[in-house]
Amino acid sequence: MKRIGVLISGGGTNLQALIDKQGSVIKSGKIVCVCSNSASAYGLERAKKAGIPTKVIRKNADCGGDTEVFSHSICEYMKEMDVDVIVLAGFMAIFGGELLNEYSGRIINIHPSLIPSFCGKGMYGLKVHEAALGYGVKVTGATVHLVNDVVDGGKILMQKAVYVQDGDTPETLQRRVMEEAEWIILPEAVEKFCAGS
Ligand code: GAR
Repeated sequence: MKRIGVLISGGGTNLQALIDKQGSVIKSGKIVCVCSNSASAYGLERAKKAGIPTKVIRKNADCGGDTEVFSHSICEYMKEMDVDVIVLAGFMAIFGGELLNEYSGRIINIHPSLIPSFCGKGMYGLKVHEAALGYGVKVTGATVHLVNDVVDGGKILMQKAVYVQDGDTPETLQRRVMEEAEWIILPEAVEKFCAGS
């Protein structure tokens, strides 16, 4: 059984999907802690309701705005909780150095587009869907991938396509991509990774 640490920044609906699928889809791993870079992230409440230990580590307030210190602090917490696999579930901060080295090949991210479209630095959350609508694509989706030192550049583990509909706004598209893709493929990809297949 792999020990999973989840990093979040906001609402935590992807975290909720992981919690809900524990035992059914996710059989080879267990969420042992949730870490947020924002104290007001609603995902923290979701974790508490599920009885999962939480910690807040803020880049500015706790780490002096230093990326290396931030990375070190998260890494220390993950090691303290004996985490094997890290899942970024709507984690909006960039980290590097120690965390990336220590957990190389064991960090999974969910991105709300079909990589390599609408990804990279500055492309997160609603901005991704604004860009997709702005470009006029008719199909978008979500991607689960491994994290390396290139933003959204690691090996793709799973993707699912979602149709854009006439009259979509960034908000309606975001919701459909979550419902039809993210909440399905993130738990599936995490299970596949934990099971070693
Ligand atoms: C999700 O759509 C996730 O794919 C995206 O932010 C949202 C977080 O929602 N992540 C990124 O854009 C990362 N580059 P959630 O907190 O409800 O899971």
